[in-house]
Amino acid sequence: MLRFTIEKLSNHPGLFLFCRAILEGNFKAIRQIIRDRLPVEPGRRILDVACGPGAFSVLFPPESYCGVDINQRYISYASRHYRGSFSVMDARKLEFDDASFDDALIFGLLHHLNDEDAKTVLQGLSRILKPDGRALVIEDIPTESKLNLIGHLIHKVENGHFIRSADGYRHLLPAELHLQREHVFRSGICDYYMASLILDGSAPVQRPDSPRTNEIGGQ
Ligand SMILES: C[S@@+](CC[C@H](N)C(=O)[O-])C[C@H]1O[C@@H](n2cnc3c(N)ncnc32)[C@H](O)[C@@H]1O
Repeated sequence: MLRFTIEKLSNHPGLFLFCRAILEGNFKAIRQIIRDRLPVEPGRRILDVACGPGAFSVLFPPESYCGVDINQRYISYASRHYRGSFSVMDARKLEFDDASFDDALIFGLLHHLNDEDAKTVLQGLSRILKPDGRALVIEDIPTESKLNLIGHLIHKVENGHFIRSADGYRHLLPAELHLQREHVFRSGICDYYMASLILDGSAPVQRPDSPRTNEIGGQ
């Protein structure tokens, strides 16, 4: 019953945002981390991968922001309510030129994807980022406190089937995305892992369709 209700809510972009904002204290902690790790600088282009209904677009200048999501409803909602560029796209096949973004944000996507798909997304990110480009990954981890009963309940019924530990997410990262900083934090009732990454401009970038090689330390 609860699972059914959550699935229904997820299909309604406005309600989805409203409920998440309540559960997460209006995303105060998340917004702060995005501002700290991806500070706005004139001229930098940002790609928000799996942007959902577009709530975080407001943290960036509209002319620099591009959001993509596989869900047509979310993209329609985002285009109507926020400024910026929004497109329906599968994050596993990012349809952008190489080195076309300075920054990338992934918030809440990888826990919906198996390891193979999650690695494909991260390799795609390495391809579309410019050398020394920045990436910020924020993902759900298992609820830490035994007393956080609502957090445990939400994770039990939430439709992300691949909620990992911090280690689990770290192991997905391609070698060319260098870890600058990582930590675990709480936003409302949800516990998250965040990894702040920078693309090593000198490392060869793994193409999704090429075999992994030892030179770039495939995992
Ligand atoms: C938990 S929501 C997070 C949305 C947004 N980042 C936010 O925090 O508001 C997960 C999002 O991933 C999107 N998604 C799932 N699989 C995807 C894929 N293969 N490509 C692009 N988006 C995907 C869903 O449509 C959904 O909007």
